[in-house]
Amino acid sequence: MDKKDLTPIIANGEKDKLAKGLSRRSFFMAAGATGVVAATSLGVANEANAQSTDWTQPGNNNHVIKLQGMDKFAEGAVSIDYYGHCALKITSPSGASIMVDPWRDDPSGAWGLWFKQKFAETPVDITMSTHTHFDHDAIDRPVSTMVLDRMVGNFEFADLKITGFADKHACVAPGWYNWTNALKEFGAQACPPNNVGHMDMVVYVIETGGIRTLIWGDNRPDPGPEFWEAIGEIDVLTLPVDGSQHILSYDQGNAIVDKLKPKVVIPTHYLNETTTYTLSTLAPADEWVKSQKSFKMLDKPSLQLNAKEISGMQKEFLYFGHHAQTA
Ligand SMILES: [Fe+2]
Ligand SMILES: [Fe+2]
Repeated sequence: MDKKDLTPIIANGEKDKLAKGLSRRSFFMAAGATGVVAATSLGVANEANAQSTDWTQPGNNNHVIKLQGMDKFAEGAVSIDYYGHCALKITSPSGASIMVDPWRDDPSGAWGLWFKQKFAETPVDITMSTHTHFDHDAIDRPVSTMVLDRMVGNFEFADLKITGFADKHACVAPGWYNWTNALKEFGAQACPPNNVGHMDMVVYVIETGGIRTLIWGDNRPDPGPEFWEAIGEIDVLTLPVDGSQHILSYDQGNAIVDKLKPKVVIPTHYLNETTTYTLSTLAPADEWVKSQKSFKMLDKPSLQLNAKEISGMQKEFLYFGHHAQTA
């Protein structure tokens, strides 16, 4: 959807055509977010137009077929490219690539303009999303052979092993902006066990090149003991902490870091000037990063991590700042 077109969607229960560019899924998400109407009363499934343009995407699955045929995989560094917000591209030593949490603006318009451009149509082997919020779910944007949307369980391919653990979204805003109150105003329950579906979450552990990376997404700060057991030892921890403390507070983020004792911490979900507007209400993560014992302000949106090289690190904060890949 053109981000300049913020005409509200009218959900009146009649068999209206969906707005151009609006999928059944995003329509239901908007309905869920506003609590205006139950999805079952819409009766619009037959008229729904698919938003996905994946069938027109360039390229093909030749790269995946090549990886599929390999029985020996390269050793070496894992590449991490930052695409702003929570979007990270992780590339294995053998070249298998995953894009996590590509973003878009809220198609309902309710949450305003967050992003300065459409998410890059970057070629990757796999696209993954942690949950259905607009700032994590533009799964149609990367040019991707596979889409693992909210995947729970285990997936293995080439030199990648991915574990998805179902949990719940942070449901009490810890910062000045009480965005979780808005859900209450919309008539939606934010907290478990009877939370609306869009407050469900899947946390991923992506294992490749001897490095286990945890994609926290917007998960709650206090999951149960089975969560910690399932995710195990973590080398690289991505955490959504920004200066507005939108998802996690500094204290909550620090407590998770202390519990997991990762070698590397990568802040996400903050205001990156390359991709994100002030209207998002987010702030940079500089203050949190600079309060840490050891940190590095990176000078570009990409990073190479080698298992041996990071083995001696302890809670080393690697911060992408305002750098982000846009293509
Ligand atoms: Fe979210
Ligand atoms: Fe988010």
